[in-house]
Amino acid sequence: MQSGKIRKLRREYAETTLSRASAGDDPIALFERWFDDAVRAELREPNAMTLASAGADGNPNARIVLLKDFGEPGFDFYTNYESRKGEELAANPRATLVFYWGELERQVRITGSVEKVSAAESDEYFASRPPGAQIGAWTSAQSRPITSRRDLEKARDAREKESAGKPVKRPPFWGGYRVVPAYVEFWKGRADRLHDRLAYTLAAPGVWNVERLSP
Ligand SMILES: Cc1cc2nc3c(=O)[nH]c(=O)nc-3n(C[C@H](O)[C@H](O)[C@H](O)COP(=O)(O)O)c2cc1C
Repeated sequence: MQSGKIRKLRREYAETTLSRASAGDDPIALFERWFDDAVRAELREPNAMTLASAGADGNPNARIVLLKDFGEPGFDFYTNYESRKGEELAANPRATLVFYWGELERQVRITGSVEKVSAAESDEYFASRPPGAQIGAWTSAQSRPITSRRDLEKARDAREKESAGKPVKRPPFWGGYRVVPAYVEFWKGRADRLHDRLAYTLAAPGVWNVERLSP
């Protein structure tokens, strides 16, 4: 075990604060300001987020995916609908997203229901991807066991030959999901572990209750 090494990793959080007044009443607007800060700070993949889900058996799972769009309707990511996460979200369409922007001492948690984005939106995003990623989506039966890396690459090469530079259509098993937020929580690291936490809970369409939580 490595607890000695890990316990030395202590940092004091002091840089800025999260006040109720500055946070405002709309968590999507606040998320946008924090996301813009993360982009401005040139963090590596500020749109990387942990997606937590649980299927019919109740066992939790988490993995990183990339945020591709957000706004009042929700937070979008793209994946294989037949992957493990796809199966879990089909059985239990609820999820939590977690962003951690360490250099800014900030975390955001978003929980809500999950729906597929429209086929038109998925088509549009798929068309914007580099050709290699488009072919990769066709080649990968995501989350299924495969015999070898070599077979995967052979399948990719065969697809590539087949498509011969023509536009690649979106696979029917691949597309976007939208997490429609019902709870959004902002965390800002502060000194002495007395961090700021503001929790937004949806009370009615467009109306959020805001509470400060104990750290
Ligand atoms: C930085 C990073 C970004 C990723 N982005 C995505 C993504 O946008 N979509 C996706 O399906 N998988 C993405 N992955 C891979 C997932 O973490 C995961 O391995 C994959 O989706 C299979 O998960 P599942 O078996 O739970 O369905 C990413 C991984 C990392 C580390």
